[in-house]
Amino acid sequence: TFDVTFSTAGHNVPSTLYGLMILITYSGDGGLYAELIQNRAFQQVTPGTSAALTAWAALGSAKISVVASSSPVSSALPNALSFAVPSGTTSTVGFTNSGYFGIPVTAGWTYTGSFYYRTPTPPSTKVSGSFTADLRSTSGTVFTSTTVPFTTSSTWQQATFTFTASSTQSAVTNLFALSVGGSTVAGLTMEFTLISLFPPTFNGRKNGFRMDLSETLLDMKPAFFRFPGGNNLEGETAADRWAWENTVGDLVDRPGRVGDWGYINTDGLGLYEYLQWIEDMDMQPIMAVYAGYSLNGASVASNDMQTYITEAINQINFVIGDASTNAQAAIRSSMGHPDPFTLNYIEIGNEDFFSPTTYADYRWADLYNALHAEFPQLHYIATSATSGNVPSLSPAPTYWDLHIYSNPNFFINGAYNFDILSRNGLQFFQGEYATTTENSGAALTYPFIDGSIAEAAYMAGFDRNSDIVFAASYAPLLNHVSSTQWTPDLITFSPNTVIRSTSYYVQQLYSLYKGDFYLTSTTNTASSPVQWSVTRDTSAGQYFLKVINTATSANTVVFTLPFTPSHTTGTGTILTAASGTQNTPTNPNAAVPSSFSFTAGKTITYNAPGLSLSVLVVTA
Ligand code: AHR
Repeated sequence: TFDVTFSTAGHNVPSTLYGLMILITYSGDGGLYAELIQNRAFQQVTPGTSAALTAWAALGSAKISVVASSSPVSSALPNALSFAVPSGTTSTVGFTNSGYFGIPVTAGWTYTGSFYYRTPTPPSTKVSGSFTADLRSTSGTVFTSTTVPFTTSSTWQQATFTFTASSTQSAVTNLFALSVGGSTVAGLTMEFTLISLFPPTFNGRKNGFRMDLSETLLDMKPAFFRFPGGNNLEGETAADRWAWENTVGDLVDRPGRVGDWGYINTDGLGLYEYLQWIEDMDMQPIMAVYAGYSLNGASVASNDMQTYITEAINQINFVIGDASTNAQAAIRSSMGHPDPFTLNYIEIGNEDFFSPTTYADYRWADLYNALHAEFPQLHYIATSATSGNVPSLSPAPTYWDLHIYSNPNFFINGAYNFDILSRNGLQFFQGEYATTTENSGAALTYPFIDGSIAEAAYMAGFDRNSDIVFAASYAPLLNHVSSTQWTPDLITFSPNTVIRSTSYYVQQLYSLYKGDFYLTSTTNTASSPVQWSVTRDTSAGQYFLKVINTATSANTVVFTLPFTPSHTTGTGTILTAASGTQNTPTNPNAAVPSSFSFTAGKTITYNAPGLSLSVLVVTA
């Protein structure tokens, strides 16, 4: 039995404490970004190669290939799909796209599509006709379609269309098809690019985010969103870095980039789209700026840093500058947001502990000094630390981002890692952490309850030390079930399903029951199987008693309250499951939270089941 007393003394819990980070394993393109067409503009591919045709296939006797257009739609999009129809063709011809490992067909959804097309060498007599745009099964059953009129012209034309699905298909092995009667286009060669199809999006935003994934995240009430990475910021080389200016403006002006996780990023999900979605989700951004270090291990030389300093200043101006006086802010305004976005935190780099020498010698100082001079109101986060042992940087940072991936025992034994740090003004951001292996070292494909409860024990340390831990986010966030580059992840998804892991529910319970004030309670020892935390929602007059039992057998905790609750029965929420339990695509709800009631009095005796996180809500 563990006896816990708590007083009403303590400290504030920062409103930023629990949030989200992104971005790998098709969590942007193919994930949060709702675009359904993969390889929609043939960005960053080599014309003439089979890889350039990823996700595309010809219909009928048409020949398709990716070409460097002799007259590209824009300098950012030099490639196009060449669609050649043999003379004498009479049967239907066209091409299909298989989406990001599938396309969902959902009854009632109106899909919004568009594409650019031209006929490089048009016939002397204009040809007019209609394409058919549709969603179909791989065996050709059409679920929804519409006609899209066209006329041959050597200049690019943009076509737009919508169609509405009347049935829901459980399978996602569906295709988008654009087709036309062969006799209309026989002998013609046409070019197409930026072939796009969106389902309804979160908040109805154009070029927006997937609804189900957004709602799953919204259910966590996350406070912040760290973007654009993670590694996604860095690029394999400096030339491949996430450069904000390539991600804004019209979609035809975005070249895309070779991402850091083995696939091409469209950058349709760009700086503006991130910010608008973060605002829609009632979060605040923790925005990273490139700090001169890329994944190949090379650092930008000291005398080449100015380019990146200017880029970072411009990036921040895009977000918060005055649109009437600043050119970057004017781009933001032209995209639909004249007012500045909220921005308080800038992260300088990502995982600079992989090149601490250059970060300490010049990269941190170069960026910090220039950005702080320009934007003194912002908070700057340094990234060069894997634990509480921070290297020496000058100017000394106030904010540090720490990353840790480990096994359950690490998180259980590390529950007091922050308690031993001195209170000297430093503030910590646990920007990435997760149980990635079992204690045996065996890798995990999905979070398992043992690891999730161990994370919960560690997170009691975030609550308790939230005077110096201002933010924390599990990582990585999202994983496309058909193309995984990193496991485990908080949420796994397919084109039409979302699987909330056991760690998702731990994060959710901590975030929902964060409170605004931490109440100092009897402390425990780091390796103890049971941890707890008491916080309060002051205006609601509610106290949240979190109990974490990392043992496989039950343990009893007795709380002695400094007040008598106003109700004799309280309501709690518990996440618990047998050791090894995982939520997977075949068993997505193996462990979900459930509610229970308990007897509330000045003393509350709670028997915590093995491997459980419980939150007892007590009203004063
Ligand atoms: O969370 C996955 C990756 O881990 C992040 O992108 C990177 O910062 C870290 O190495």
